[in-house]
Amino acid sequence: MCGIVGYIGNSDCVRFLIDGLKRVEYRGYDSAGVMIYSGKDRSNVLIKKTGRILELEKNIDKNISGNIGIGHTRWATHGEPNDENSHPHVSNNEKIFLVHNGIIENYMSLKKKLEKHGYSFYSETDTEILVNLIQYNYKDDIEEAVKIALAEVKGTYGIGVFCLDEPDKLIAAKLGSPLLIGIGNGENYFASDPASILKSTAEVVYMEDGEIAVITKNSVVHKTLTDEIVKKTVETISIELSDIEKSGYSHFMLKEIFEQPRTINDTMRGRLMLEEGAPKLGGLTQHPEIYKSLLNAEKIFIVACGTSWHSALIGEYMLEEYARIPVEVEYASEFRYRDPIITPKTVVIAISQSGETADTLAAIKEAKRKGAVTIGICNVVGSTISKETDAGVYLHAGPEIGVASTKAFTSQVITLALITLDIARHKDMSFRQGYKIIKELKLLPALAESILENSEKIREIAHKFKNASNFLYLGRGYNFPVALEGALKLKEISYIHAEGYPAAEMKHGPIALIDENMPVIFIAIKDSIYDKVVTNIKEVKARNGVVISIASYGDDEIESISDYVIKIPETTNLLSPVLTVIPLQLMAYYIAVERGLNVDMPRNLAKSVTVE
Ligand code: AGP
Repeated sequence: MCGIVGYIGNSDCVRFLIDGLKRVEYRGYDSAGVMIYSGKDRSNVLIKKTGRILELEKNIDKNISGNIGIGHTRWATHGEPNDENSHPHVSNNEKIFLVHNGIIENYMSLKKKLEKHGYSFYSETDTEILVNLIQYNYKDDIEEAVKIALAEVKGTYGIGVFCLDEPDKLIAAKLGSPLLIGIGNGENYFASDPASILKSTAEVVYMEDGEIAVITKNSVVHKTLTDEIVKKTVETISIELSDIEKSGYSHFMLKEIFEQPRTINDTMRGRLMLEEGAPKLGGLTQHPEIYKSLLNAEKIFIVACGTSWHSALIGEYMLEEYARIPVEVEYASEFRYRDPIITPKTVVIAISQSGETADTLAAIKEAKRKGAVTIGICNVVGSTISKETDAGVYLHAGPEIGVASTKAFTSQVITLALITLDIARHKDMSFRQGYKIIKELKLLPALAESILENSEKIREIAHKFKNASNFLYLGRGYNFPVALEGALKLKEISYIHAEGYPAAEMKHGPIALIDENMPVIFIAIKDSIYDKVVTNIKEVKARNGVVISIASYGDDEIESISDYVIKIPETTNLLSPVLTVIPLQLMAYYIAVERGLNVDMPRNLAKSVTVE
């Protein structure tokens, strides 16, 4: 949560800060602020506004300029979203400014200590405590003061610091929250996300936990908090500007839904070996010991949150059916605080689009502590979870900016299918079966495309149900998790209450909700349990429920028992979620748009949840 940016150079930084903040607005959007230093008579301005970055932008006078600046967009943790609680925070002596992403867990005890020394506070934030702790330790060296302060801090941070008494530098430091330095020509930058600096430079240095950077306009020095110089490698950002722009779509979410034929392909690219009926996953095979542990695992836990947890459930079905390994899927937040049984042959897979989710990261650390081999499935290259795990597989779905996860989900399902296939081919699965699944994988991009071509029909159905107050999503087998995912998408962006259930479970409770006002979405494709789903549909119809079915092409029976039918092409059972989820993503999207809501930035949410 929260996004930070900083600039030091010769040009005016206002545009850079605002554009950079807009690029990380997905990380939090309840308030934002900037500090701009003009250099003339040591003058600086601090502007903070509740609401979106647009609000902040409106409040920056056109005459304001400066060639050093720091900015922040907030997702509130300590204190409500208001101007006072917004960042940058300033020290009591009004000389030190701080932007912070993360949480200072021991801020209450630090606050008491500072109060004893006469400090006072205007906000409810943990960040204001940290900026004053830096002032408290300041003699004549801001770098030193930051280091001493951070040594006292418990928690997580990605920070940017500016001190009026040393206006030729910015200080950045990282522990547990993403942070990188952008290398420009006569100017340098810091940011939470490469997207913020991509317009200015593609050259970046990713900071590691426990590191601090001293940034001037012509140099960047990396050190540890204990003052050892760290030699860093400059990397080139692999994303293009078009990856982080809407490119003509009205929302990022819509763009990302429509990108799926390409992203599904990108996830599989170079990984399918048809002639062997097996996949090749370099992120696993390049770690032979870890790979061996996965192939010989006697138990797999999959830990994740939200949408990633839904793909994990699909992974459980796949791995148990084809790889014949017992799998337990856990909410990462539960796994970390209970006492799961980890044996020497237990492997823990963490799924996270962002690779930064605090609960998932903590679950991985707990698993490692107990001796498990850990594997990451992440989208963001170089993210914390991808580094923390012993080996992993990247999704390669490209930046996902809409808060509601779409293309990452389909890529996660593909990745889990590849891992399953890999293990299964080392066990009982025949070449023929592996070959068949790979053939089906290769067809998926075109099949996804054909569903998207039908989006107008889904939009029409969405229009009819835009005022519904509740939705029920039902599916069975591989498509039970898709029912959960469809309900989550609708809840997140349309604020309509929705529940997902295994279809048969409906009669054990949710059936009481069904009446003529209750739309029930069934995933009723032609698979091995199709007949059972049809029975469930009839049970809903018998109680006057309104049925919308996601069904297979060529299924005529379904028309007679459903009020609305969305037809999709067929694929093999384990891959079906990749296709069945697409109409549900579109349905949620169109309903939210009809309700006039901010699809990309739904209330109270943030793209990457880096707090517990
Ligand atoms: C998905 O639409 C959500 N915004 C959310 O549930 C998300 O999937 C969850 O926070 C996990 O994120 P991660 O995949 O980045 O770990």
